[in-house]
Amino acid sequence: MSLLDEIKAKAVANKKTIVLCEGEDKRVVEAAAQITKEGIANIVLIGTEEECKKVAPHVDLSGITLIDPLTSEKTEKYAEILYEARKAKGMTEEQAHEQAKDRTMFGALMLKAGDVDGYVSGACHSTANTLRPGLQVVKTAPGIKTVSSCFIMIAPDKNNPYNPDGVAVFADCAINIEPTAEQLADIAIVSAKTAKDIAGIEPKVAMLSFSTKGSGNDDKFTQTVPKVQQATALAKAAAPDLALDGEFQFDAAVAPEVGQLKAPGSKVAGHANVFVFPNINAGNIGYKIAQRFGGYMAIGPVCQGFAKPLNDLSRGCSVEDIVATVAVTALQAE
Ligand SMILES: CC(C)(COP(=O)(O)OP(=O)(O)OC[C@H]1O[C@@H](n2cnc3c(N)ncnc32)[C@H](O)[C@@H]1OP(=O)(O)O)[C@@H](O)C(=O)NCCC(=O)NCCS
Repeated sequence: MSLLDEIKAKAVANKKTIVLCEGEDKRVVEAAAQITKEGIANIVLIGTEEECKKVAPHVDLSGITLIDPLTSEKTEKYAEILYEARKAKGMTEEQAHEQAKDRTMFGALMLKAGDVDGYVSGACHSTANTLRPGLQVVKTAPGIKTVSSCFIMIAPDKNNPYNPDGVAVFADCAINIEPTAEQLADIAIVSAKTAKDIAGIEPKVAMLSFSTKGSGNDDKFTQTVPKVQQATALAKAAAPDLALDGEFQFDAAVAPEVGQLKAPGSKVAGHANVFVFPNINAGNIGYKIAQRFGGYMAIGPVCQGFAKPLNDLSRGCSVEDIVATVAVTALQAE
């Protein structure tokens, strides 16, 4: 069974309720029907029956709960929740009533109120518009200040000596552009959780750099080496039981012989399966190299660090991508 099939099977066994915010999108309506049919989650779809039928007339909507923020009796309650969450930031009650009718905000408020277990949007909204409601009202998990993302990378086969699990986690490839040391430490800790909870591997976290244990430095330029060193120290202090080390070049992280040579005594060097990149440039380029040259399949971006699960779809997503994202979101709600 593939990892994705395992994730779906777990979601079926522990059926959660997920809100999909974009009933105006054909792919979302089709995915909602498929998820309902396969029993992956109970779906709340934001939209009207009329518009769903307009974009996807062939789709059977039975079993899907449709909700329209413009007419729902819940909108009033959600506006109050929004006002409470944002009044310190200057939001007025009128603004809260207006914004609660926005579909992505309404979905985030459903999640905040505990009326659904997870939120998926982004098929026809940008990443910023998809995540901002979550950042503003759902906020981060206890002890975590940074929402980030990772890709679960699935190997084309299990014969790669540098990735014996056949699965790896790459972070952050999609949200934090130039994370600080504190943010990198948060990214490392939540990526380890995603590795364990969703990818099903025992995390060994490598903090990546072009330097291994001080072999290189960029003091005169962007100072990423000291940043990664500081992030490593912060993450170790915050999660002392986690197998985490750095800073490592990629080969020192995955090749036992290089790890032993460059980082003798490290339990992670040469055996890492969770990779924390120093910034979004490195992370985004890195996962695409693994995908295109290495034949890895990338599941994600999986958002992590929120107090409750929210995930962002790519605007180029397929129906299958939406189904997979809902299954991952359902597992994060465990
Ligand atoms: C995450 C992101 C979407 C947030 O953008 P934004 O809406 O402009 O965020 P803002 O700076 O206005 O912040 C909104 C709120 O979220 C908080 N926030 C922003 N980023 C956060 C993060 N990574 N973790 C936790 N909180 C965050 C802010 O502190 C702010 O909170 P407040 O209003 O309560 O003070 C932004 O970082 C982004 O666009 N990243 C790159 C995404 C991208 O282009 N990816 C490429 C896809 S591959």
